[in-house]
Amino acid sequence: MSESQDTLTITDNRTGRSYEVPITDGSIRAMDLRGIKVDEDDFGLLSYDPAFKNTANVRSAVTLVDGDRGILRYRGYPIEQLVEHSSFLEVAYLLINGELPTAGELDQWIYDITHHTFIHENLKQFMDGFHHDAHPMGMLVSTVGALSTFYPEAKDLDESEARYMQIIRLIAKFPTLAAFAYRHSIGMRYAYPDNDLSFTGNFLNMMWKTTELKYEPDPVLERAMDVLLMVHADHEQNCSTTTMRAISSSQADPYSAAAGATAALYGPRHGGANEAVLNMLNRIGSVDKVPEAIQGAKDGQFRLMGFGHRVYKNYDPRAKVVQNLAHEVFEVTGKNPLLDIAVELERIALEDEYFVERKLYPNVDFYSGIIYQAMGFPTEMFPVLFAMGRIPGWLAHWQENVLDKEQAIVRPRQLYTGAGERTYVPVEQR
Ligand code: SDX
Repeated sequence: MSESQDTLTITDNRTGRSYEVPITDGSIRAMDLRGIKVDEDDFGLLSYDPAFKNTANVRSAVTLVDGDRGILRYRGYPIEQLVEHSSFLEVAYLLINGELPTAGELDQWIYDITHHTFIHENLKQFMDGFHHDAHPMGMLVSTVGALSTFYPEAKDLDESEARYMQIIRLIAKFPTLAAFAYRHSIGMRYAYPDNDLSFTGNFLNMMWKTTELKYEPDPVLERAMDVLLMVHADHEQNCSTTTMRAISSSQADPYSAAAGATAALYGPRHGGANEAVLNMLNRIGSVDKVPEAIQGAKDGQFRLMGFGHRVYKNYDPRAKVVQNLAHEVFEVTGKNPLLDIAVELERIALEDEYFVERKLYPNVDFYSGIIYQAMGFPTEMFPVLFAMGRIPGWLAHWQENVLDKEQAIVRPRQLYTGAGERTYVPVEQR
């Protein structure tokens, strides 16, 4: 197609005038619509797109999700290959730096992260201040944000060294904060990081260590945790990543931005879905109750949590990875009986017109909670585990946003529906 045809011709029937709008990368610039006016005083056209269902607000090279073909690639590498050959820390390096590390770069990356897992002792006082039944996600929103008060140099966004240190610290300290939040909730003293263990082995150590002098993680569960973190590591411009970018656009530090992203992930429509799936499966209770539950979802009584996706209109490739992982974990932990209910729910839903026509397939959250529960995590910890995986993705997008010269502070427009001008009425006259 010739260059001249990469345009949109818009005719404004209000004025009869026509406009040529260039098409670039399958999009038009919304700002080009502002030139379409009925007269010189007209502000010009806006594009109206609630929840940004059809709006690209960034250019990004980090991750590609092809919803129709069920494809997920981190920096061009298919998730299936990374799960088979890579590790969470190597995937984190890839997402943030854009290339797979050499052996030396990976060793240095792992060394740096391993040696920043401790948190300032004062942060324990934040943890201790929470009520015994505080939700760990609420604790993390607060303590991740509090990290910004310990590292004021995090505001030096233009310094690559300063950015690197905050990236290392957030990846390294998030598991410590997560495990400390859990230990607080069960009234156990904090188990400190053990630098002899792997990233995931150390996380399991901080979660489960009791009286043994040295915690030894089960290698199957250690690897399963690593895979679960990999499949959660990034997912384009999802709600929490968009939040991370929006906060970074005001040049706030990455800890404050990550606290906001953690808050966005907390919602049951996003990262909180894995917790909601378990609650739903427990409510269904048995395989023979599944048809009744399916009917309830079709009648709009509730949503099938763990089903559906804004982008995937085909199977979420991560759901397949997680489902396969379940069987490996259950070899060690014993089978989670909820799996049978989940498998039956999926089987019936994928045959039912209501779900098929709405392209509702299991997403990453549908099976992950079943594994987490089998590994001993309480349901409140599930979104925490999602967030721990997503930290490198948030940071990759944070850094991409900071370095993107086309970006500016996020400040959308609105379509005003409120009252016109009116005069104040004193209270005695109302
Ligand atoms: C994640 O963006 C990302 O990439 C997110 C994520 C990531 O890695 O960051 O992939 C992680 O958040 C996965 C999604 C986890 N959430 C859930 O599992 C919660 C249940 N799913 C839904 O709430 C919903 O599917 C969303 C939020 C995931 C997507 O919602 P959309 O794209 O806004 O779709 P919609 O709400 O407009 O629904 C379209 C139709 C509606 O029916 P109609 O009004 O057309 O009749 O589908 C129905 C909805 O009622 N529908 C469901 C449903 N999800 C949508 N009906 C029953 N069960 C569901 N789960």
